[in-house]
Formats: sequence, C-alpha cells, structure tokens
Amino acid sequence: MLLTQLSIINFKNYEEANLSFSDTINCFLGDNGGGKTNLLDAIYYLSFCKSYFNPIDSQNIKHDFPFFVVEGYFNKNNKKEVVYCGMKRGQKKVFKYNKKEYDRLSEHIGKIPLVIISPADTSLITEGSEVRRKFIDGIISQYDNQYLNHLINYNKALNQRNLLLKSFWLNRNFDADALEIWDEQLALYGEFIHETRKKFIFDFTPFFQEYYDLLSQKKEVVSLDYQSQLTDENFKTLLIENLVKDRANHYSNIGIHKDDLIFNIGEHPIKKFGSQGQQKTYLLALKLAQAALIQSIKKSEVTLLLDDIYDKLDNKRMTQLLTIVGSNTFGQIFITDTSFVRIPSLLKKENINFKAFKIKDGVIENEQ
Ligand SMILES: Nc1ncnc2c1ncn2[C@@H]1O[C@H](COP(=O)(O)OP(=O)(O)O)[C@@H](O)[C@H]1O
Ligand SMILES: [Mg+2]
Repeated sequence: MLLTQLSIINFKNYEEANLSFSDTINCFLGDNGGGKTNLLDAIYYLSFCKSYFNPIDSQNIKHDFPFFVVEGYFNKNNKKEVVYCGMKRGQKKVFKYNKKEYDRLSEHIGKIPLVIISPADTSLITEGSEVRRKFIDGIISQYDNQYLNHLINYNKALNQRNLLLKSFWLNRNFDADALEIWDEQLALYGEFIHETRKKFIFDFTPFFQEYYDLLSQKKEVVSLDYQSQLTDENFKTLLIENLVKDRANHYSNIGIHKDDLIFNIGEHPIKKFGSQGQQKTYLLALKLAQAALIQSIKKSEVTLLLDDIYDKLDNKRMTQLLTIVGSNTFGQIFITDTSFVRIPSLLKKENINFKAFKIKDGVIENEQ
C-alpha cells in the first residue's frame, strides 16, 4: 500500500493541506511547532484509526473548528484505495475504506502495516515492565488474533483470582476449589502467552541484532532477553508453591503479567549504562526489527514514520540509518527534521531518491 495523496482539513494546526507523496522517501522539514509531527500523526490515523500522541480524538480537531477530516489515497497493486477518517465534535468518529464504513475499527488495523519511531519511544527503556510487555503484545497482536484473545482472557482470570484472594483475606476464609478454577484458567492462557512470547523473541532477536550492528557498525555489543518466571517452571507448580505468599499479599505474584525484557549493553542495563546515543540506537534497532518482522510475517511492506530521528544520533549512525531505510527494504518512508539541509544533503550524497516538503505554521510552503 503506497500513500499517493494525503488530504487533511482542520486537523491539529492545519486548516487545509493536500500533499502528493513519493513512493520512496518523504521529508517534512521546518522549525519547531510547524506541524511536521502532526502530518505523521495524520498518516498514523490512516493505519491505526487513532492518534499516536493524543488518544482523545476531539482534541485533534483544530481549535475552534467543528470537525476534522483525514483522507488518504493509496495505491495497492495499481488499484486506488481510499481511507477516510472524519470526526465531528460530540459525535462518534467515522472511519471508511473505499467509502464503506467499518462496523468495528479493529477490522481495519493491520491493513496498512506501519511502524512509527518517535522520541516518545524512550519510555521503552526508562519506564516499568508494563511498557515493554505492551510493546511485545502490540507486535504479536498485529499478526496473531488468538494471542490477543488469550491475553484478554488471561487478564480477566487474573483479575478474578486477585478479587478472590482479597475476599479470603477480608472474610478470613479460604476455598481451595474456588481458587483452583482461576488457577486452571491462568495456567491455560498463561502457558500459551509465554510460549508465544518466547517464540516471538526468538524470531525477533536476529533482526534486532542485525539492525543494531548496522547502525553502530559493531561498535558495541547489546543483548535482548526475555525474562519470565515461567522459563524453567510449570505455571501450575509455581502457583502452588506461591500460595502462602499470594494469600498474604492478596495478590497473584506469579505469571506472565510479571514478564519483562532485559535490555543490556555489554553486561549491564542500557538504561543506566548506555549513552543517550546508544539508547537511541537501541530503540531504532527495536523499531526497525519490529517493521522487518511484521514484513516477513505479513508479506507486505511496512510504512515507516521517523520523527526527529536526528536528535542524539551522530552523523555516522544517521548515515547508516538513512542507508538502511533508503535501501528499499521497507515500504514508504516519512521523515521529519528541523534542518532544511541535513537529511536532504545526506540522501543526495548516498544517491537516495526523496521528496521534501517545507512546513511552517500549518502550511506546506513548498515541495521539491
Ligand atoms: N487541536 C489543535 N488545534 C490547533 N493547533 C494544534 C492542535 N493540536 C496541536 N496543535 C499545534 O500544533 C503545533 C505542533 O505541531 P507539531 O507537528 O508537533 O510540530 P513540529 O513541526 O515541531 O513537529 C503546536 O503549535 C500545537 O499548538
Ligand atoms: Mg515534531
């Protein structure tokens, strides 16, 4: 799916804009606050039916205007496809594919595979394990429907088990049979999720290592490990072993809701011992690996949105990144930068085709 044209009305700081894109690389260039990231977000809407940055749709309508429209014209095997997203204040968002409205937005997700790389991704390194579990779950859910259902069922069972543990504690009683029902459910769904995550990390890691090596030109060694209480033990056995602790805490201490990813540079956590540039390289390698893995599974090209990638990367790594994304490995590329010359001159030097748009205060000033 190639985005040939984007048309937006009253979206964030744009009143009206129409852009025609290159099949390869497109650069949005301009000063802070001009509306570069907003354009990436409009493109993100067309894939995920929502903003990457602001989950409240109505706040993406231009201030003091009654509605927004984001419309994308795609080329799919030489056929034109239209994706429409419209939002009126106080009303439900309308999302259409070739003029036909979806019953459920989830039917659309995955049709236009896309990965965004943004400065906000640092949360993957700096924040708690939940962010990293969400990262894995988000990727697997894009190609495995059963996974998402099992995850929902697991979380329901976990919630019920915790409520039961709490009620035992409040009422000073205990019912082994009642708990057993939820233990069965946790083990059933939990083992499946654990196996799927393990398989995912096994498939994902070679891509990740390859991109880290390319970006850093093998200057440092990094690793990515899946950490789970279920690695060497059976879930049911662990639940039995931890029953006394679970009853004391009235909380389930064991399960895939405790899984984490361990990001190391050398032998040490990259969060504490990686430089900002090394952390950025790590995040880029994670996201490029995400795109490559989705591509290999779905057999369709992934669009990449690269927001403010220059931030914290040195020229060597930046050149490597542009060479990777300019080598036609991925689908269409959209890049933002505050400098008018940095990225275009690097792309020209590497003989990579691109189109550049100068953006200022919600207006496309010119394109070349
Ligand atoms: N709903 C909205 N209505 C009007 N302006 C908005 C809205 N949401 C965001 N903006 C404006 O968009 C601008 C930021 O655009 P952005 O794309 O992030 O800039 P940059 O070019 O630095 O990436 C800010 O000036 C912000 O106030
Ligand atoms: Mg920006």
